[in-house]
Amino acid sequence: MYKVAVAGTGYVGLVAGVCFAEVGHEVICVDIDENKVNKMRQGISPIYEACLEELMQKNYAEGRLTYTTDYASAYKNSDVIFIGVGTPEQPDGSANLSYIATVARQIAETIEKDCLVVVKSTVPVGTNDKVEQFIKDFLVNDVKVEVASNPEFLAQGSAVRDTLQAARIIIGTESKWAEEMLMKIYEPFNLPIVSVRRRSAEMIKYASNDFLALKISYMNDIANLCELVGADIQDVAKGMSFDERIGSKFLNAGIGYGGSCFPKDTKALEYLAKQNGYELKTVKAAIDVNTDQKTILYKKANKRLITFNGLKVAVLGLTFKPGTDDLRDAPSLENIPLLLAQGADIYAYDPVGTENFKRKYPEGEDGRGSIKYVENVAEALAGANVCFIFTEWGEVKAVKPEEYKKLMRTPLVYDGRNIYGIEDMKEAGVEYYSIGRQ
Ligand code: UDX
Repeated sequence: MYKVAVAGTGYVGLVAGVCFAEVGHEVICVDIDENKVNKMRQGISPIYEACLEELMQKNYAEGRLTYTTDYASAYKNSDVIFIGVGTPEQPDGSANLSYIATVARQIAETIEKDCLVVVKSTVPVGTNDKVEQFIKDFLVNDVKVEVASNPEFLAQGSAVRDTLQAARIIIGTESKWAEEMLMKIYEPFNLPIVSVRRRSAEMIKYASNDFLALKISYMNDIANLCELVGADIQDVAKGMSFDERIGSKFLNAGIGYGGSCFPKDTKALEYLAKQNGYELKTVKAAIDVNTDQKTILYKKANKRLITFNGLKVAVLGLTFKPGTDDLRDAPSLENIPLLLAQGADIYAYDPVGTENFKRKYPEGEDGRGSIKYVENVAEALAGANVCFIFTEWGEVKAVKPEEYKKLMRTPLVYDGRNIYGIEDMKEAGVEYYSIGRQ
């Protein structure tokens, strides 16, 4: 078993740290935020993620998992340091690598024995070559150091499961020493390992995420055409899914993809291509379709209603998908400002995302409209003129068609997640619009 340090306790870093501890490694998680570190020591997770707190508490109690702000003491004795800090998108679509650079410098200045540095954060192809050189340039002690790439494929809401039962582990190394060490670290996971050169590993991450984004945008594009020609996207997807070459997953048309990965990684790869004098036409198309898709229901409703001014608008779901409190690139963030600008009185419900959303849009008057956060679906729907469904939370899916009819002033529903059967809504007397269906 190895002494493992993990830099950054966001989704990638914390989940990795906890899972390494769970399989038996001795793990120390490093974060600059003292408050966050104190909370984690008390077993409180900074992110909402199924099973994470239980595993944090268990591994902390059993002594395999600790947290610190003191990076020097954490790094100096580690066999391996995983970097899981953020690489946020910059206005031009490129990735901001300043957090990685900061950690790399801290590593260079503190390690006292041979050490493998493993970058889990998503970084543009070629970055890890530079990180290695950067660490070597600033190295204080005479030790061996190498950088490996080990991209992360976890999805929010199922991060622990996705890590402990990953479909594959990708490792990108430039030496036998690094490859063998990473193989040993991952041995207890008992999962398929794909070992490639460093740049290929970096590319696998982008190519995988962008392929999935493209799949969604493709289905959304076809869905929009289905509406125009009288087909049903769910039937179409079902028919397609039996072909194993297509597969049955990620065929759900909806109101566009959001989250921390797809929007950022598509733009970053497009930017990387441009930098290299190449136009990545497929990925650009995925981005364009997604941008339009996010407000497609708003535009439809706007035509139907002429104006939202003075209307009570129920919004069900604020997060980019269920099972997370993450709002990054969520469709709600595109639609709520448009509704407020038109003077809508919004009643928003989300089982876990409300607190985060409130920070961006505090309760009360906003522009010409107003926003109020409610505790349940019924409160949002009571007396509403129109309802938008942005996230397919279980709490939202549990609402029966009759309840829209019963609770709303006018039962007019725009469903961005195709939750309901067309006939069921019709029978209940609800005027219902969704994506790619009649
Ligand atoms: C994704 C990848 O799945 C994961 O492998 C990668 O490491 C990070 O990015 P995540 O963003 O957490 O994970 O969520 P995911 O479940 O993949 O959904 C992403 C977005 O696509 C969501 O907004 C979701 O609503 C949307 N989506 C997904 C669809 O619109 N249709 C689908 O069929 C699937």
